[in-house]
Amino acid sequence: MNTNYLTFSYVLITLLLPLASSTNSYHSKQIPAIYVFGDSLVDSGNNNYLPIQSNAKFPPYGIDFDGGKPTGRNTNGKTVVDYLAIHLGLPFVPPYLGLSKAHRNKIITGINFASAGSGILPETNNKTLTLDKQIKLFKRVIKNNLPHMFDEKEKLEKHLSESLFVVSTGVNDNLVNRTFRGSRKFSSYLLKEFSLRLQKIYNLGARRFFMNNIAPLGCFPSFAPRPRPRGECNEKINKAISYYNNCLPNVLQKLQSQLPGFSFIHSDLYESFMYLRENGHKYGILETWKPCCPNNIFGDLQCHPYNATCSNRNTHLFFDDHPSQIANKIYATRCFIEKTICKPSSFKML
Ligand SMILES: *[C@@H]1O[C@H](CO)[C@@H](O)[C@H](O)[C@H]1NC(C)=O
Ligand SMILES: *[C@@H]1O[C@H](CO)[C@@H](O)[C@H](O)[C@H]1NC(C)=O
Ligand SMILES: *[C@@H]1O[C@H](CO)[C@@H](O)[C@H](O)[C@H]1NC(C)=O
Repeated sequence: MNTNYLTFSYVLITLLLPLASSTNSYHSKQIPAIYVFGDSLVDSGNNNYLPIQSNAKFPPYGIDFDGGKPTGRNTNGKTVVDYLAIHLGLPFVPPYLGLSKAHRNKIITGINFASAGSGILPETNNKTLTLDKQIKLFKRVIKNNLPHMFDEKEKLEKHLSESLFVVSTGVNDNLVNRTFRGSRKFSSYLLKEFSLRLQKIYNLGARRFFMNNIAPLGCFPSFAPRPRPRGECNEKINKAISYYNNCLPNVLQKLQSQLPGFSFIHSDLYESFMYLRENGHKYGILETWKPCCPNNIFGDLQCHPYNATCSNRNTHLFFDDHPSQIANKIYATRCFIEKTICKPSSFKML
């Protein structure tokens, strides 16, 4: 009991307070909006509007989100982008597909285009909003919606150049039918394709980017499976991902040197997971292997609609095959407050 209470207090003090105070003390005016591209780590509900299967629109997803209802987020509560929005003093970033036309014409604090299951390459999952489709939708917003709020071209350009562009993708490209395929050659190809798409977003007016590398998929519940000793990761998968991750900062640096005004924050999502595997217990995360939903590791490892969750969701690193809210929160704190896993290059956002 005492330990739980202490852990809980610790979490409150180290996580909640800095996040809460930061909304006041940090210069939120400098970042007027967050535009989000990517996959399930950051999708805030777009897939709810696509004719594809999405468990995240049913409970128990969203059980710890404000209101306790599913939103389409692939976790029990907030995503990394939700914490980023809180940190910058901005509202949660709504999914593009959930906005009415009238709403799209009014919103100047950012829109989320991310789609769970999508990748960098269109062929990775073309039933989702592929990254290319996401960019097309953003282009549409610039052409049709934002001009309602920015009557002069220069004002719109300024808005875009000051906004933050979160692009969180790449993991799904490594998976075809849940089989891992990340060779070095493939990773190099993927990085090249990623770089091309970042340039497209830049060409539309974006200047400030926030990019994370790929999580250690080999440690995820579906890839660190039962035959291995409990909690061990698939090192082959992690090694392949590390190759991609090691190259990513260079690719971003290159873009920065080539594109005037391009700046980025690189966040080490991989490190965040590895850190929590080792140190999660300091924050009350005691289970770094099993998902919280389904609440057992037998069967198909999918969190189905209305499945029961584990009894204490704050003790699990993984909600399903995605990080739990507490994991996202610790990631956010280490990135935005402690700045241990996020490296700003040239603009002072953090
Ligand atoms: C989507 O992928 C399927 C299978 O690879 C392909 O047959 C189809 O033409 C693609 N659709 C689009 C719109 O690209
Ligand atoms: C993936 O699975 C689907 C359905 O089982 C199959 O049609 C498709 O050929 C598979 N794709 C690859 C690349 O193995
Ligand atoms: C989750 O829900 C599915 C579908 O209703 C069910 O078959 C399965 O047994 C449930 N699993 C758990 C662990 O509750």
